[in-house]
Amino acid sequence: MKVLIVGSGGREHAIAASVAKSTKVDEIYCAPGNAGIGELAECVPIGAMEFDKIVNFAKGKGIDLTIVGMDDPLVGGLVDELEAVGLRAFGPRKNAAILEGSKAFSKDLMKKYNIPTAAYENFDDAEAALAYLETAKFPVVLKADGLALGKGVLICNNIAEAREGVKSIMLDRKFGSAGNQMVIEEFMTGREVSVLSFVDGKTIKTMTSAQDHKRALDGDQGLNTGGMGTFSPSPFYTKEVDEFCRKHIYQPTVDAMAAEGREFKGIIFFGLMLTEDGPKVLEYNARFGDPEAQVVLPRMKNDIMDVVQACIDGKLDEIDLQFEDNAAVCVVLASKGYPVSYEKGYVIQGLDRFKGKEGYYCFHAGTKKTEKGVVTNGGRVLGITAKGRDLKEARANAYEAAQWVAFENKYMRHDIGKAIEEV
Ligand code: AMP
Ligand code: GLY
Repeated sequence: MKVLIVGSGGREHAIAASVAKSTKVDEIYCAPGNAGIGELAECVPIGAMEFDKIVNFAKGKGIDLTIVGMDDPLVGGLVDELEAVGLRAFGPRKNAAILEGSKAFSKDLMKKYNIPTAAYENFDDAEAALAYLETAKFPVVLKADGLALGKGVLICNNIAEAREGVKSIMLDRKFGSAGNQMVIEEFMTGREVSVLSFVDGKTIKTMTSAQDHKRALDGDQGLNTGGMGTFSPSPFYTKEVDEFCRKHIYQPTVDAMAAEGREFKGIIFFGLMLTEDGPKVLEYNARFGDPEAQVVLPRMKNDIMDVVQACIDGKLDEIDLQFEDNAAVCVVLASKGYPVSYEKGYVIQGLDRFKGKEGYYCFHAGTKKTEKGVVTNGGRVLGITAKGRDLKEARANAYEAAQWVAFENKYMRHDIGKAIEEV
């Protein structure tokens, strides 16, 4: 089989590594990919939003299956365009990817189908949003409706901050058209857990749980980022939590999408908060998490192509999804200054040290191959994942391996997975 992966980050490298292990796959291509993915796949210089070029490439190469890793092309309808010319693709169609693409849509869906989430109101004009704030309880959470690289969420402690927030989202359009609408919702407290799942339109199978660390600095300080590190499984995701979510969140979401005529096939990523009143949905994503994929996929026992094909064919009920009984931790090595401003183009040393090391992975996020060697090419540069028998061992292994590579302005958090000590 020939497989094309669309995307260029650490998540796509983790997907490529799983695809490369499949016995069913002969050739892997990635658009546009990065230096690490280039070791496993042929990278083609086509951007993830260049739909015509992707479709033409897939047709011309005789690609059997395209896996779309990123949110933007899914929300933009890349899967529909591939299917329109008879090509197979993994990921939700445009009418289902709206689950991630519009927060107003997802909140209304949860309300309509009684799926637990924070209380909220949707607004499409700033005047009404500002009027609502007069009677709101603080803190409140403001969310730009559309995709905003994970940055369109503002937690406001008082009315002055909230007014400023409404202004930046709806009037100044800080997040562009993502701010055409916005959600104002209740602030929740609790521990966050990410649960990724495979969905075939009717059946849902959840993967092992994970937890991300979204803030830039140790101790959950600093700005929100795309994710600075993950661990899996989450010891806070207990059997009771799992049972509750299965009954009240997972299957109800899949059924709700089907009932709305928006059959969902692909990955649903449930961002959950474990509140005092039980688990509630913070957000849905329509793709693997980044860097959740980097700790979840290395622990998956199944051949990923079997699972992906079963999703497309509506046969997920025939799959026995299994994960290793161990743990994994991913520490992101970023460029100093991320997520605001940072320099690129520094040579990365030590990448060879991962060759042949069982249970250790160096997933490339922002890297580029040049004449000088592999250089930094983004805010998040590498995701260093290591497995261990338990979280403690995985954490020690990941931090040891994080020392194997060196580059100028290398920055990482030192407390990824530290929360496990509280258990
Ligand atoms: P989202 O993109 O919706 O996941 O939001 C990004 C982050 O903002 C989440 O991971 C939470 O840490 C935080 N957040 C979002 N919604 C809420 C909420 N209702 N209450 C508290 N924190 C929230
Ligand atoms: N790690 C969070 C996300 O992928 O959205």
